[in-house]
Amino acid sequence: MRRAFFRLFAEEAADIAAGRYRVPADLRTPPDLRALLAQARRYYEEAGTISRRAHRRGGAVETRKIAPAGLPSYYVQNFHFQSDGWLSDPSAEIYDTQVESLFTGAADTMRRRGLPLLLDEIDRVAGEEGRAPVLVDIGCGTGRLLADCLVNRPHVDAFGLDLSTAYLRVARNHVGRDRAAFIQAPAEQLPFADHSVDILFSVYLFHELPAKVRERVAAEFSRVLKPGGYYLHIDSVQYGDTAMDIMLEGFPRAVHEPYYDAYCRQDLDALFASGGFARVEGDERIAFLTKVTPYRRCEA
Ligand SMILES: C[S@@+](CC[C@H](N)C(=O)[O-])C[C@H]1O[C@@H](n2cnc3c(N)ncnc32)[C@H](O)[C@@H]1O
Repeated sequence: MRRAFFRLFAEEAADIAAGRYRVPADLRTPPDLRALLAQARRYYEEAGTISRRAHRRGGAVETRKIAPAGLPSYYVQNFHFQSDGWLSDPSAEIYDTQVESLFTGAADTMRRRGLPLLLDEIDRVAGEEGRAPVLVDIGCGTGRLLADCLVNRPHVDAFGLDLSTAYLRVARNHVGRDRAAFIQAPAEQLPFADHSVDILFSVYLFHELPAKVRERVAAEFSRVLKPGGYYLHIDSVQYGDTAMDIMLEGFPRAVHEPYYDAYCRQDLDALFASGGFARVEGDERIAFLTKVTPYRRCEA
């Protein structure tokens, strides 16, 4: 594990040294210590609440009391036992700290192992077609990878899509409201016309979805992507990908990830093949506990 962790940062350093992307903003500028301490306090308060909820019956579903109408029932849960699930400002404001803590500071770097692939694809479409590519981050959450992408390639017709208005608010601030449009909609019913998108990506979305919904989302990706379009799938490693399978076994029970175990057993190539996608051989990569898998939609 330790080797995989350090390899991740060595790979990012090599990509930056080779000029494949800019040094990320939060590595360039010193942190605001006061803000950091305030965030740490919120994090520890919430960690106590999560721990109590994890040991209580019904701790996973109390979000139902605050959920607005119209959201899918699988979505309305306290995922990770976090307060309010995806549905409140405090949840959205603490999320990045929680994820970085869970992955001991590796989360953004794991996401960015997909960044050179996205930038290459943006350059390819822009170069071949002489226009700004349409790029959509599905289940963008707080928009971490979308922001890194647009810092490096601002001339993109970019969208962040998520079901949570609270997370979209944080994403809008982090990414910049002028850089992308943000849309509240379900991944399984995308508000884009057939064959209208050049590039799609999702980060840590599919493991949060029931199996049937994963199939519907894959079908939507196929519908909205142009023939020959590109989809970059970034999510947890799966069984057999690393020597760390034992971690995948305990994780879903400990942190209330109801669909994670089934996701870790999902044949991704088969899931996306049904929508006419083929994996881009040779570009896949394992980034510590994350797997980056690129797909291209068939031309027909
Ligand atoms: C684990 S978070 C990942 C967020 C972000 N992509 C990241 O890199 O951290 C999952 C996100 O997917 C969103 N989400 C879950 N189910 C969704 C659905 N059916 N349609 C759209 N967004 C969904 C959640 O609101 C949440 O923001």
